Amino acid sequence: AQKIIIDTDPGQDDAVAILLALGSDELDVLGITAVAGNVPLPLTVRNALAVCELAGRPDLPVFAGCAAPLDGSLVTAEHVHGQTGLDGIALPEPSIRVQDRNGVDFIIDTLRREPAGTVTLVAVGPLTNIATALRHAPDIASRVQRIVLMGGAYFEVGNVTPAAEFNIFVDPVAAAEVFASGIDLVVIPLDVTHKALTSPSWIEEIGRLGHVGAVAASWTGFFERFDRAKYGSEGAPLHDPCAVAWLIAPALFSGRRINVEIETEGRWTRGMTVADWWGVTDRRPNALFIRDVDRDGLFRLLSERIARLAGL
Ligand code: BDR
Ligand code: CA
Repeated sequence: AQKIIIDTDPGQDDAVAILLALGSDELDVLGITAVAGNVPLPLTVRNALAVCELAGRPDLPVFAGCAAPLDGSLVTAEHVHGQTGLDGIALPEPSIRVQDRNGVDFIIDTLRREPAGTVTLVAVGPLTNIATALRHAPDIASRVQRIVLMGGAYFEVGNVTPAAEFNIFVDPVAAAEVFASGIDLVVIPLDVTHKALTSPSWIEEIGRLGHVGAVAASWTGFFERFDRAKYGSEGAPLHDPCAVAWLIAPALFSGRRINVEIETEGRWTRGMTVADWWGVTDRRPNALFIRDVDRDGLFRLLSERIARLAGL
């Protein structure tokens, strides 16, 4: 199985991404590193622990990473995810405990311990933990297999400012360092996640898949109500699960290898992913920028794997 570390700020869509990974035997999740993002770090840690427990994986190590972006203060998104970050059916206080080791050290140690080119990082929050690991241990850049990250937007521009997507906006300095690292990147921007919209019938369907399914349905339902009210959209984009799904079933997705640079300073465009989709520069391609998804295939995969986790 493909070894991965999930770097995350749960978040309902992060939580579904974790469930998808844990329900898929193509993937071997070595650990989960939490980062501040949707809500502050103590809550993203708590939520990651609670999701592992829900999934029947109390053995999975969860680590706390960075509590704040590399420069400046933290921007959070309680207005999207609720005060807990994981509003929906309330999960019990997790009985498993966070690991003592810092998440950044776990990333570094794991990449140094495992054979080079065998561990993929799945990053579905701000890129602070990964950029910090690269700062502390530049040698890991040549050991990581690739990074599959949810972040950015080009044709769909922004969801937190008119120009920027949340994960990149929260820590553009970290993102810039990751995009300049030379590591093979697969980027899942809003351009594709806005095509991965939930539907009421799908939420109902997973709601029938045992307790895990009922909880996942309550999360996505919460998320969906926000998007319908705010954007009048047909459903809610399941952003982060797309990053995990790309690893399990890449044929569901399509995109182009292009150059992507991160704006760290712009007066109006801080956190923008400047994507050379049309190849108008001679800058070296550094990312596979995904733009399309087979929506039905994606939601079938999600239902199947949630059912598996529920033991159905
Ligand atoms: C991203 O921001 C967060 O709110 C979601 O969890 C996702 O990772 C979408 O912009
Ligand atoms: Ca996230």
